[in-house]
Amino acid sequence: MGEQGTHQELMESDGGYSKLIQTFVKKEEEEKKKEQRPKMRRLKSIRIKSPDQANGKFDFEVDDGDDEVDGKLIEEEQTGGSVVQLSTYAGYIHYMGGWGMALLMLLLAGVTVFCLVTTNACVAIWLRAAMPSNETMDGQGGAVLDLGEELGSFIILYVSTFTVALLFLLLMCYAFIRILLRASTRLHNALFQRIIRCPMSFFDTTPLGRILNRFSKDLDEVDILLPSCLQKFSLFFFAVLISLTVVGILIPWYYLILAVVLPLICMYTIFFRRGFCEMKFMEGITLSKLVAHLTATMQGLVTIRTFRKTDHFIRSFGYVLDKNTLVLELFQTTYRWVHVRMDLISAFSTGATAVLVVLLHDTVSPAFAGFILFTGINMCSGMVQSMVSFAMDAESCFVAVERMMEYLKVLEPEAPEIIESNRPPAAWPSEGKLKFENVQMRYRESLPLVLKGISMTIESKERIGIVGRTGSGKSTLGVALFRIVELAEGKIHIDGIDISSIGLKDLRSKLSIIPQDPVLFIGTVRYNLDPHNNYSDEELWSALAQSHIKDKISQLDGKLEAPVIENGENFSVGERQLICMARAILRNSKVLLLDEATAAIDTKTDSLIQQTIREAFKDCTMLIIAHRLNTVLDCDRILVMDDGKIGEFDKPDTLQADSSSMLSKMVAAAK
Ligand SMILES: Nc1ncnc2c1ncn2[C@@H]1O[C@H](COP(=O)(O)OP(=O)(O)O)[C@@H](O)[C@H]1O
Ligand SMILES: [Mg+2]
Repeated sequence: MGEQGTHQELMESDGGYSKLIQTFVKKEEEEKKKEQRPKMRRLKSIRIKSPDQANGKFDFEVDDGDDEVDGKLIEEEQTGGSVVQLSTYAGYIHYMGGWGMALLMLLLAGVTVFCLVTTNACVAIWLRAAMPSNETMDGQGGAVLDLGEELGSFIILYVSTFTVALLFLLLMCYAFIRILLRASTRLHNALFQRIIRCPMSFFDTTPLGRILNRFSKDLDEVDILLPSCLQKFSLFFFAVLISLTVVGILIPWYYLILAVVLPLICMYTIFFRRGFCEMKFMEGITLSKLVAHLTATMQGLVTIRTFRKTDHFIRSFGYVLDKNTLVLELFQTTYRWVHVRMDLISAFSTGATAVLVVLLHDTVSPAFAGFILFTGINMCSGMVQSMVSFAMDAESCFVAVERMMEYLKVLEPEAPEIIESNRPPAAWPSEGKLKFENVQMRYRESLPLVLKGISMTIESKERIGIVGRTGSGKSTLGVALFRIVELAEGKIHIDGIDISSIGLKDLRSKLSIIPQDPVLFIGTVRYNLDPHNNYSDEELWSALAQSHIKDKISQLDGKLEAPVIENGENFSVGERQLICMARAILRNSKVLLLDEATAAIDTKTDSLIQQTIREAFKDCTMLIIAHRLNTVLDCDRILVMDDGKIGEFDKPDTLQADSSSMLSKMVAAAK
């Protein structure tokens, strides 16, 4: 006995107990200080470093002072470049269906605008034809238009050009929506396929919010905003192009005004574009953090409330929200900045055009003067500006495309689902004989080995109990068997077939697992037991009966059709394990892994379940990772895992006979 006494006495004696308490208290105080940091360390600034000499890029840094928060596990999200890369546009055109589709869209936009301008020009030509000569001016100085017999043909011309323009407009809208929606659908499908086939290490190192953001906000922009921006941009682009040409032909002096205005517009656009795209990237990243924070909080709500950390989480939510809002505000301010300048340029050019028309009143007929003023004002006060702003909006949507494509580029999928040239026989594995040869595995490239050279042979229908300290690598054996993570070294054979040589679907469909944390999906009980509708109701009920959950399910409203909510939260963990057990019974695999499958089940049900396991899976090779030692003592052999290596592997009686064996010690400690 080291020390004895009341808390007060022990603290005063300054012995081991007081040291223990002091370290604990100190630690807690440190943690408290750390926790308060977000409150004190508000978002300091967004630093914009001067453009890098080498690549001319602006370097943004959102300085929030919480560098440690993300830790080492989660990799920072890339900000991308300051502009959207050309390969992104090329990739998007590929998803649209190739250059042919892109050209078709441009052609339709060009023809539509041409028809619309022709409609306007028709009026001008009509007016000029109908313009009276000086003699017919009436006394008040007003002009009386003499439309004559040509009125009928002009009306027909006007109506028909307008109808054609309208038809082309409809055709163009249809083509844009069809082609661009197809592009976003294909992009979504490609991304979804890629993400779903990513190895676990990707999900370990990527916060859920980041992935969700790709599929919510980014996809929304590509789906809805991008088609509308591209369509409007193409319309305005051709409108500007055609108007410029027509007005230029009518009064070549107009090009003088353009010579001043266009460089200014280009300059502001280029200047603005840089910051605009970068800010769009920043907005995406800060929003990812926001979504990640929100999902993490929702998932851990019970824990947060239990530990009374609600305030802390509200504070840190405000903090990530601040970061996002700050970028948004900058974004809006920049937008305003460029708009004010564009408005000034418009005002200047409209004024200049008007002066030009007045000065040239001798050479330009009043009808064309009207047309020029109309087009000029239209163009400068709205069209060019709209063209620029839709181009920017479209480009900013391409930031979302780039973010989605970035995942397509960088993510490496798992091994193929099926390898046609090397498919195992349909009846494989008929025996269920497992052979591990120097199996070494690490979870990620940079991490140490978790399995450090496991070699063993497990015979057909053998029941192996696996025990060992927490973190000794028991669950990792299952991870290696299912190839959730590929081996660093060594091989695993099932019935003589090297599992690394076959497709993942072929492998995983032949094995069953009841994992440590049972997984149920949103849907019904039936869907969770038999997602592919392969079994009859009798088979389902019999499996439920064998896993001792039949009574509970039959009491539910709807029985097999009873709803299961997200994560199966409307069932207790134990019930979820029992449903998973029923699922495994149905699958009837030759190899079954139970990972502490009964850890959340009361002792009485546990012993019933153990009975079931023995009966229902008697033809299976079973690996039973045990939570309660007594449940595996009647196994054929016991594997004691010790720090990623095989500590002991023998019959339970042999191991227990030796009082110095690890198993004997564990049994003694458990008593
Ligand atoms: N997804 C993961 N990424 C990195 N390391 C992991 C992961 N899962 C488990 N580990 C590490 O592998 C070791 C063995 O874990 P595990 O096999 O789950 O132990 P247990 O014997 O308790 O089932 C532990 O040290 C753990 O930290
Ligand atoms: Mg485990």
